Amino acid sequence: MTEFTVAPHGFLRDGRPHRVLSGAVHYFRTHPDQWAERLAVARAMGLNTVETYVPWNLHEPTPGRHDFDGLADVERFLERAAEAGLDAIVRPGPYICAEWENGGLPSWLEGPVRCGDSGYLAAVDHWFDVLVPRLAAHQVTRGGNVVMVQVENEYGSYGSDAAYLAHLRDGMVARGVDVPLFTSDGASALFLTGGVVPDVLATANFGSRAEEQFAELRAHRPHDPLFCMEFWCGWFDHWGDRHTTRDPADAAAALAEILGSGASVNIYMAHGGTNFGFWAGANADGDLHDGGYRPTTTSYDYDAPMDEAGRPTEKYWAFREVIGRYAPLPPPPATAPDPLAPRTVPMTKSVRLFDVLDVVGGTETSSPQVPSFEEVGQHQGFLLHRAALPGPRPALPLRVADLRDRAQLYVDGVERATFARKGLADRRGAEAVDVAGPADVELLVEAMGRINYGPLFGERKGVLGGVLHERQFLHGWRTTPIPLTHLPDLPWERGGAGYGPVFFGGTLDVEEPRDAYLSLAGWGKGVVWVNGFNLGRFWEVGPQVTLYLPRPVLRPGVNDVVVLELHPGDNDRSIAVAPGPHLG
Ligand code: GLA
Repeated sequence: MTEFTVAPHGFLRDGRPHRVLSGAVHYFRTHPDQWAERLAVARAMGLNTVETYVPWNLHEPTPGRHDFDGLADVERFLERAAEAGLDAIVRPGPYICAEWENGGLPSWLEGPVRCGDSGYLAAVDHWFDVLVPRLAAHQVTRGGNVVMVQVENEYGSYGSDAAYLAHLRDGMVARGVDVPLFTSDGASALFLTGGVVPDVLATANFGSRAEEQFAELRAHRPHDPLFCMEFWCGWFDHWGDRHTTRDPADAAAALAEILGSGASVNIYMAHGGTNFGFWAGANADGDLHDGGYRPTTTSYDYDAPMDEAGRPTEKYWAFREVIGRYAPLPPPPATAPDPLAPRTVPMTKSVRLFDVLDVVGGTETSSPQVPSFEEVGQHQGFLLHRAALPGPRPALPLRVADLRDRAQLYVDGVERATFARKGLADRRGAEAVDVAGPADVELLVEAMGRINYGPLFGERKGVLGGVLHERQFLHGWRTTPIPLTHLPDLPWERGGAGYGPVFFGGTLDVEEPRDAYLSLAGWGKGVVWVNGFNLGRFWEVGPQVTLYLPRPVLRPGVNDVVVLELHPGDNDRSIAVAPGPHLG
């Protein structure tokens, strides 16, 4: 049994002064069969602790139905960390930000969130009843490795409901948390006065100027040990923007400044990983966050010291050298195996999405107005809406009001336009298109990630303001849900002429599974699955060109590759296995 306590100006581990040297590795962004190797590499950088968030929406996709398997097996992750010789810091939110869909909050929550609203608190309490005892069982006080647990996340950047934070603190304690609790916030009076909780350690998040930031933290909390809970050593990317990097020497100097002030640190991220499936979040521009919508890319490489495939980068060795000045270093990590050698995967099979709706779609529903995703009871993926435009009437502008986030319009079986939400870096986006009636109208709507930071949580997805022909609402819709969370076997034999998005199928032959990078250069927009595992979205607007394919997804011999292309055109219908990542 280990004892881990907060003492004036420092931590004590089994009675001895202790500096936390932590790095963030999110279990939900790495294939479970690779957790052990990632954690071993993190340990070999000199870290003594790993930190992870817990995304509520991954674990409770529908109210009361919990998932702790596979990518969601947080307890197994904690065990792997202990085996690697790492303590663990857990940040169960319930809000986590993290560039994750809706900041980790389930999109089925209704009403106000992140405050003392009774409906929200009831949902949080139910979730904590399930989650917190599982985490508590892994605390050092019970023979596990969890040394610290966070209350909320950067709450001072959001609200000022002190009673809500106290409710979370008390709820964690009541459910068995007896290791130190903490909050983390930006180091300013605004953030700290909103985010700190009485009797709970306060920590600060920043990427540089440690001395200045710690002075601000000290001004508010003279006796708390100094802890940079998120040392931002890199950053994430948005679709349509440039790829962000941070110079390794600059980042290493900032880390040296933190450690030089005697502080503990959590490197955010030690290993970023991947937003598999439809889990990438989004940001919104502007002071009031109403200025434009910017979804996060599939890769969460973060320009971290361990890259998306877990390989040490130049930044890794620079950080290891800095850490080595303050702590004994374990042996360096084993050399990572080479990725899969470049080759071409011809996409020989194809079938149209609209020809397999009975296989990939759910039950059609009818409604006078276009329903949102939430009204249909689906939270991610696509919806297909169909209606009959009356006529005869002349060509008049047809537009979609308050669209989240992207819609392709087909009129009498011809693709006529792509509508895009404000701020979406779309090369094809149109405002309105002239359509004459009568006509059959089909609208394929794609939800991209929900905003994870700022005031706009719980945004609904889909067409929220209706479809307008000139000023007139188009009524009478039939809607087919197309979640694509799991890809069923496709009836390729139905392939033929038609319109709309296309599934392309091919096979990747490998003798020995290795990590691989699939290049989608030349493709438009869509999603890729390998052996049914959803690698995430690709998009021609970049900056990300390759998708990371983790080794455990592959098996020796034949592997199925499926691409859903939303804009089938004239590309050469093959995918390249690239020699390495191309993130822009
Ligand atoms: C904040 C949040 C993190 C993450 C970073 C940016 O500090 O707490 O979850 O969103 O910003 O990567």
